[in-house]
Amino acid sequence: MVRAFTAPRPASYAPLPPPINRRRFDGPLPPGPGVGGPGVSLARFLADTPGFLLRLQRRYGDAVSFSLNGQLFLGLFAPEMVEGVLVRSSRSFVKGVGFERMRKVLGEGLLTNEQPIHLRHRRMMQAPFHRERLDGYAATMAASTQTELASWEDGATVPVGPRMMALTLDIVARTLFGTDAREHADRIAHSMEIAIDRIERTMLPGLDRLDRLPLPWFQAFPRAADDLAEVAEQLIAERRAAAERGVAGHGAPAVDPETAAFDPRRDDLLALLLAMRDDDGGGLDDDEVRDEVLTLILSGHETTANVLTWAQAYLATAPEVRRALEAEADEQAWLTEGRAPSVEEVMAADVAGLVLAESLRLAPPVWVAPRRALEDVEVAGVAIPAGAHVLVSQYVTHRDPRWFPEPERFDPWRWRERPERDLPRGAYTPFGGGNRRCLGEHFALLEARIILLAIARQLRLEPTDPRHPVPPAQPRATYRPRGRVPMRVTRRMA
Ligand code: HEM
Repeated sequence: MVRAFTAPRPASYAPLPPPINRRRFDGPLPPGPGVGGPGVSLARFLADTPGFLLRLQRRYGDAVSFSLNGQLFLGLFAPEMVEGVLVRSSRSFVKGVGFERMRKVLGEGLLTNEQPIHLRHRRMMQAPFHRERLDGYAATMAASTQTELASWEDGATVPVGPRMMALTLDIVARTLFGTDAREHADRIAHSMEIAIDRIERTMLPGLDRLDRLPLPWFQAFPRAADDLAEVAEQLIAERRAAAERGVAGHGAPAVDPETAAFDPRRDDLLALLLAMRDDDGGGLDDDEVRDEVLTLILSGHETTANVLTWAQAYLATAPEVRRALEAEADEQAWLTEGRAPSVEEVMAADVAGLVLAESLRLAPPVWVAPRRALEDVEVAGVAIPAGAHVLVSQYVTHRDPRWFPEPERFDPWRWRERPERDLPRGAYTPFGGGNRRCLGEHFALLEARIILLAIARQLRLEPTDPRHPVPPAQPRATYRPRGRVPMRVTRRMA
């Protein structure tokens, strides 16, 4: 198999125009630091990239330019600009800086690939995320959550960050692989952690050179990528062997709706990926399936875990909201009866939905969408030259007081006053937009509501340090809370 870490950019992709050297470019540009000046200090940029972008927007406006490592960047923050880049003019852009590093781990999976591969894979991979399949996943999500929460004892201090990560990994692994993935879970979690950390310095062009340094910190990156590829290849080989022995059936849901028990011989995402056919009857080869498996593991757990951890921290600062959520959880029949929920039941939970919407606004797990312009293009009146790096940022646009008064305040009720449909397009994009919109949006929302409600029904979580109930951020490839976010558990229900 060809491993992603060293694989060249596929020849079928559009050629990438070279990055723009700011000093040699004399076309019109939006204002910003480094226009005609020395550029931005890397240290300042890396110390707190979301904060840096927010300060730029406050100082220079909705469209800003700056240079980093000698290359031209444009930050576009107004809703119509976000909409322009992600939706209207999406054909003029490909995924940008951070994704080049992500590709070393995820290869040509859905998150990192480009046209024409993207369209073909996206069409095939939509099926496992169809609405009718979600009911089956809801049972697994609720069962995994129940197992996790049962070990949270009254009076104990629980590291909420790592526990949410373990829980969402367990859920994505069970729904994806259909086996109890615990035997591989530790290995996956360990290598994913390193990979995500090293993908990290997302916005820094030219980091690839450092990857070749003989320092353990850098060398751990290709090792983790290889390890992940090996686990995924092993899972695929096991599944192919099982299919040949005739034990992997198709057509039935992965979870038995009666018992909520997981049956590995039935259909799951991996079975679907292996069986997938496009209109011409072609399927995915093993390299492609491996890249998609790793893509779904990475994109399918870390984001959801982060937003759930933030939500618990925010809830501890908003007792009235927490009480409303607890009251709603106490009325959920699936929780009081201890059975698997239906999608309808979970999605009808109003307060849980508002808490999530607000957490996704303030702490958007995907806080930036880096792009590269393939051609000269104009977006909402801003001329973007071919080769420029373009950043739209959920973190910045979600904090714009024009759409979100008192933007730093955690206020789920704001969504009652001004629901998402009343906002301009592009103002609120936690799941991105256009043809690269999140594939797992409904999966994630369902899972996050189930976990939020199950916690609210059984437990009350308090920060161990009440003076700092909300942890500082450690923005990486995703918007993570710093540290383990320890919280003290009080059991509401046995
Ligand atoms: C709260 C949780 C989640 C958030 C906030 C989130 C957010 C996003 C965003 C913003 C993008 C677009 C990135 C860009 O345009 O640069 C994206 C893409 C994607 N997400 Fe999610 N995501 C979440 C959960 C999930 C889950 C659970 C899965 C899968 C099980 C998933 C799978 C994907 C995939 C495959 C893509 C690439 C889609 C494409 O380019 O066609 N995500 N996600």
